[in-house]
Amino acid sequence: MAFSLTFLIKEDLCRSSIVLKYKSKFRSYLNLSSSSSISSHTTSNRRSLTTSVYLLKDKVSSNIWLERQRRDIFVKQAGAENYRCRSAFKLKQINEKFSILCPGHIVIDCGSAPGSWCQVAVQEVNATGEGINKPKGTVIGVDLQYFSPVDGATILPQSDFTTEATQTKIKDLLCHQKADVLLSDMAPRATGLRSHNHEAIIELCFYVLRFSLVILKPEGTMLCKLWMGGDQSRLEKAMQTVFQHVRVVKPEASRENSAEIFLLGRKFTGIKN
Ligand SMILES: C[S@@+](CC[C@H](N)C(=O)[O-])C[C@H]1O[C@@H](n2cnc3c(N)ncnc32)[C@H](O)[C@@H]1O
Repeated sequence: MAFSLTFLIKEDLCRSSIVLKYKSKFRSYLNLSSSSSISSHTTSNRRSLTTSVYLLKDKVSSNIWLERQRRDIFVKQAGAENYRCRSAFKLKQINEKFSILCPGHIVIDCGSAPGSWCQVAVQEVNATGEGINKPKGTVIGVDLQYFSPVDGATILPQSDFTTEATQTKIKDLLCHQKADVLLSDMAPRATGLRSHNHEAIIELCFYVLRFSLVILKPEGTMLCKLWMGGDQSRLEKAMQTVFQHVRVVKPEASRENSAEIFLLGRKFTGIKN
């Protein structure tokens, strides 16, 4: 039985969108002419083809990533200003526009690794106490992954924010004080399926929204990252029930061609009667 190369790859990677995109690159990688087809494939042949496609995909996308990083002004600026990554500028730009972080604030940062939002929050709320004439703030950072300590912040690495255990730890650290600002830059591990990624990130945002009900001070702020999609309006509507103002924010540092946006909820009211 003869299979065309395209069919084989398609069959093995059935749900992957890379199939057509990498078809021609893959042909040249294997030194095949465009009319080549492969017959009588064994399972191991197919597996090695699949592996090769994955390796090629990784190679191509890591080259694109490296090239983009090289040209990105925020990557350079992050290096120059000692931020752990370019994301710092997303929070800085949102804060410049909406003044969400003030000295003395209590901030919870969900999805903190490698720690650049924590670095920005520490500076803005004076969590190290360096600003002698300003009130001293508090920053708590949580992430699933390990990340190194951020001066001035209390961090909970290797902690899943969605669990009751982690949320109880946060409440204990605050000795039952409430927070002024709840941030989330959490992102699930992205798959090739846009709709799946969207649903997963929306679910994380709802965890943050539910936590806001028990942790935010009246008039508090919530900022969460999501990837645009069909459930965005459901989240916006849910936020509108507990915040006076909800708006979509896209800072300059958030890449134009990315589906990433942020929802900013201001003036927390709690559930309105
Ligand atoms: C884009 S990164 C955050 C970057 C960070 N804001 C910074 O500026 O350094 C997204 C993070 O969300 C974390 N994350 C995803 N799901 C999580 C969860 N359930 N609990 C805690 N962190 C989570 C990931 O581990 C990842 O480190």
